[in-house]
Amino acid sequence: MGRQVIQNASFFFSPTGTTRRIVKSISQGLALRPRDFDLTLPASRERGVTLERDELLVLAFPVYGGRLPELIKDYFVKLPSGRRPAAAVVVYGNRAYEDALLELYDLCHAKGYEVVGAAAFIGEHAYSQVMGRARPDPADDERARCFGLGVRQTLLSDSFLSDKPILNKGGHRPYRPYPKRLPFTPETSRRCAKCLACVHNCPVGAFIGDDPKKINRDKCIFCAACIKICPEKAKAFVDDDFCDDMAALAAANLERKEPVTFLP
Ligand SMILES: Cc1cc2nc3c(=O)[nH]c(=O)nc-3n(C[C@H](O)[C@H](O)[C@H](O)COP(=O)(O)O)c2cc1C
Repeated sequence: MGRQVIQNASFFFSPTGTTRRIVKSISQGLALRPRDFDLTLPASRERGVTLERDELLVLAFPVYGGRLPELIKDYFVKLPSGRRPAAAVVVYGNRAYEDALLELYDLCHAKGYEVVGAAAFIGEHAYSQVMGRARPDPADDERARCFGLGVRQTLLSDSFLSDKPILNKGGHRPYRPYPKRLPFTPETSRRCAKCLACVHNCPVGAFIGDDPKKINRDKCIFCAACIKICPEKAKAFVDDDFCDDMAALAAANLERKEPVTFLP
């Protein structure tokens, strides 16, 4: 018979904008009535959520250290549980997505959602202008639209995805530990024009007293939103060891990786 689904609710977290773009392309492919829940700013994660009956959920998050960002697990507590179709999507910076997609699959499953499709896309790495440079690009957008279309067709066939293909592609339980917190935050140079774009776009409100130069290290999630959004390029991680590590990581991950999609 297939499921009667007429709209999709997309939940995404996207400090540097690549996940947001993939979600947009997936929505185009789905061609349902879209509702967007952009969870990037703190206030958006405080609001309660009501889901419509027969609504497809699209859940899309960046990969941090081969896992989902820690705050996503906390956010899931707020989502209503119950049987409904869901598409699980992660976006990673051309290194690896490791356990993140499996973790998202499991979070969906624990809520009672039936995963009808899963995918890992590539976005420019938050810490590099080389790794995944300028991704997603038009080819990625097209893959994301095709994925959306595939999910829509799956809805009609009433089938859903097991965890096996994701495990076969290298996801592991127990998941790898969360990445270690960095012992420093981005530095601000004299180029700062105090436009406050960084302050207003910080996903965790980490700027102290709305001062673009003062970041609370205990709050910072090192997502690089403030670095990538700065119109003056006044923000950067400047720690020598960190910069060397990122250069080495980039050198080892220059080769273009392609999106993977899983449909039943
Ligand atoms: C703290 C942190 C950890 C990351 N870890 C990984 C990783 O393990 N593998 C990878 O390929 N990319 C990693 N990235 C890159 C992001 O997954 C990538 O930049 C993604 O496109 C960011 O999504 P957004 O643009 O929606 O914020 C990491 C980025 C950050 C900020």
